[in-house]
Amino acid sequence: MKSADIRKSFLDFFQAKDHLYTESSSLVPLNDPTLLFTNAGMNQFKSFFLGEEAAPHPRLISVQKCVRAGGKHNDLDQVGYTARHHTFFEMMGNFSIGNYFKEQAIAYAWEYVTQVLQLGLEKLHISIHHSDEESGKIWLGQKGFKKDHLHRLGDEDNFWRMGKVGPCGPSSEIYYDLGPAAGNDPKLDYVGGEGDRFLEIWNLVFMQYFENEEGQRSSLPKPSIDTGMGLERMATVLQNKNSNYDTDIFTPYLNFIEEKTKVKYDPSEKGVAFRVLADHARTTTFLMSDGVKPSSEGRGYVLRRIMRRAIRYAQNLSHQEGLLTSVSEQVISTMTKDYPVLTTQKDNILSSILKEEERFLETLDGGLKIFHEVKLQLEKENSKIVPGDICFKLYDTYGFPLDLTEVVAKENQLTIDKDGFDSALQQARELSKSGSSSFKTNN
Ligand code: SER
Repeated sequence: MKSADIRKSFLDFFQAKDHLYTESSSLVPLNDPTLLFTNAGMNQFKSFFLGEEAAPHPRLISVQKCVRAGGKHNDLDQVGYTARHHTFFEMMGNFSIGNYFKEQAIAYAWEYVTQVLQLGLEKLHISIHHSDEESGKIWLGQKGFKKDHLHRLGDEDNFWRMGKVGPCGPSSEIYYDLGPAAGNDPKLDYVGGEGDRFLEIWNLVFMQYFENEEGQRSSLPKPSIDTGMGLERMATVLQNKNSNYDTDIFTPYLNFIEEKTKVKYDPSEKGVAFRVLADHARTTTFLMSDGVKPSSEGRGYVLRRIMRRAIRYAQNLSHQEGLLTSVSEQVISTMTKDYPVLTTQKDNILSSILKEEERFLETLDGGLKIFHEVKLQLEKENSKIVPGDICFKLYDTYGFPLDLTEVVAKENQLTIDKDGFDSALQQARELSKSGSSSFKTNN
């Protein structure tokens, strides 16, 4: 099934069950200082869950663009290394605002995956929160459900919070077993494990509480439902692949990068640069289309980190300027039918990316040279840790965000001294406040 058809099938299914379609909201959350970027479909409905505003309809559905980089849900470090993490992805979800609850949400999900998508019963596994026997019973009552495919997990897997403060509740997740070819390490490949074999495809959150900064919970006005199914993961399952990057969502970009760089894509760990570039080009393009610009703080700095990470990986493939910009152009032409704002913003987006590429390429080589010298020095000293003051120099003089230094360090089997970096940064800020330094965080 093509990704466009998956999206349509999901919307058709829930619209036939009286759900009102709501367009994706911006990646920059409106009036919500608790969030860096929109990280889930429910964000735009938060005030409905809390009872602060009346929903236009008690049953809603959306395909929400999400970014998980920075903030509570941060997948940046995993991107490129796993088959299933992205900084940008699309999340399909159905929502009940005080209308139906567990019984109906589970029945709808089961009907959709087993009857509409016809996923094999032996492939489906379900996790519930270990305290939530009520959901367990409902799952066990679903037609064809395999009793030994029910798993009881803890808060980390089966309790969902939007952020530090906000609506939350226990959840139940549907996993698809991609089989041992996708991952076969018993330490990683189990339901809820870090491996790629058991792919979490749908999260059903039983929204029941509001949690404040002190971690105290109060009940929501009415129990509600928030579900999220990643389009990219569903495409992996329905296109019989082992990696999201092998689906029709990503292969056009991987092919394009192959053409531009004349390097062949390798789906193993060696292909990390391709995957990072494809993922980060989508994130960059979408964040910019929602008005974020690379800068030295806040959202703009997260965007800059993502872009510089992508630019550096692109340089590993080929020393040409403008590779991120040209992948972004592909993103715009591929995705504009669902997000026409990409075309409206095209010129702004492409010129901002190119500017950032030019700017960072002026200092990237110099920074890598310094890194190389430090590496040789560390070898002599028999040390494996890049000192904090060097990380700071790379940041301050060469525009290396700390996580980029960490990537380069990791590739060289080194780690970085984060605390040392923090104190060097703090010191520079204090000096700058007292007027005795020209330190500016403009990198
Ligand atoms: N909010 C939940 C999640 O992001 C379900 O949509 O997983």
